[in-house]
Amino acid sequence: MGDWTEADMPGQQGRVAVITGANTGIGFETARALARRGARVVLACRDVDKAKEAAGRIGQDVDVVRLDLAALASVRAAAEELAARYERIDLLINNAGVTGLTGRTEDGFEIQFGVNHLGHFALTGLLLHRMVPVPGSRVVTVSSIGHRFGRVDPDDLRSAGTYAGSKLANLLFTHELNRRLRDANTVALAAHPGGASTEIFRYSSPWFRVPNLLIARVLGRTPAMGALPTLRAATDPLAEGGEYYGPGGLFEIRGYPERVAASARAHDVVVQQRLWEVSSELTGVGYPV
Ligand SMILES: NC(=O)c1ccc[n+]([C@@H]2O[C@H](COP(=O)([O-])OP(=O)(O)OC[C@H]3O[C@@H](n4cnc5c(N)ncnc54)[C@H](OP(=O)(O)O)[C@@H]3O)[C@@H](O)[C@H]2O)c1
Repeated sequence: MGDWTEADMPGQQGRVAVITGANTGIGFETARALARRGARVVLACRDVDKAKEAAGRIGQDVDVVRLDLAALASVRAAAEELAARYERIDLLINNAGVTGLTGRTEDGFEIQFGVNHLGHFALTGLLLHRMVPVPGSRVVTVSSIGHRFGRVDPDDLRSAGTYAGSKLANLLFTHELNRRLRDANTVALAAHPGGASTEIFRYSSPWFRVPNLLIARVLGRTPAMGALPTLRAATDPLAEGGEYYGPGGLFEIRGYPERVAASARAHDVVVQQRLWEVSSELTGVGYPV
C-alpha cells in the first residue's frame, strides 16, 4: 500500500466524532478532515469563543461543547451535555494536550498529567456508554514519541508529572482500555504526530520552542500532516484495537502514517492495570467495562 493520506479516509456520513482540543493544531486538522468526509464533528474545547471561530474556519455544520480537562467538574458537565445531545458517539479523539506548563489542575493534580491523562481518562469513562453499543466505534488517544522518555509509577505519581510521563500514560491507558473492551463494539487505539508546527510549545522556553518549530517547518510537518496518524487510527478499516500509528519515516518524525511500536514500558500490563485503578480513584470515574 502507498502513502496513507486524507484521500484514503472512508466516508464518515452518519458518524459522530468528538475531538478534544480541536480549536487549533492537530485537533483542528483532525476535525476539519472528519467534517469534510461527512462526520458530525463536535469540537470539545476549553474556550468556546476559540472553538466557534474554529468551527467557522471549518466552514461546515460543526458543533461545540465546552470542556476544560483541567477541571473534573467541567469534564463531567461536558460528558453530560454530550450524552444528552448525541445518542451515539462513533469516535472519541483524545487529542488535547499541554507541555511545559507548571501548576495544578482545579482538583490538585500536576497539570500535564491532569490534562493529558486524567482528564481524558474521566471523559472517556463518562462517554463510553454512548460508544459501546455503536459498531465500529473507536477511542483514539494522541501520545508522543516523547513517551519513550517517560516513567509512570502509579504508586508515586510524582514520576508521571512530566510531559513524557503523561504521554506514556496515554499509551498505558489505551492498552488497558482496549483489553477491557474485548467483548464490546468499541476499540481503543493510539497515534502520535511525530512533530508538527502547532502551538504545542507555547508554554516552553524559546530555547526549546524555536528549534523544535524550525525542525517541524523544515521537515514540512504541518498540522495537517501531524493529524494523519490520528485520522488513520480513527478511520482506516484495517486498523485494529491496541494499535499505535505514527509517521513511518526516519525516527518517526516524518512521513505518512503507519503502524508503529510503543516502548516496552507502554506494554507493562501490571503498570497498565495499576494506573487504571489509581486514575479511577483520583477522578472518581468508574467504567462500564
Ligand atoms: N505538535 C507536536 O509536535 C506534537 C508532538 C507530539 C505529540 N503532540 C500531541 O498532539 C496533541 C495536539 O497538540 P498540538 O500539537 O495540536 O498542540 P496545540 O496546537 O497547542 O493544541 C493543543 C490543544 O489542546 C487544548 N487544551 C489545552 N489545555 C486544555 C484543557 N485544559 N482543556 C481542554 N483543552 C485543552 C488547547 O486549547 P487552547 O487553544 O484553548 O489552549 C488546544 O486546542 C497533544 O496531545 C500533543 O501532546 C504534538
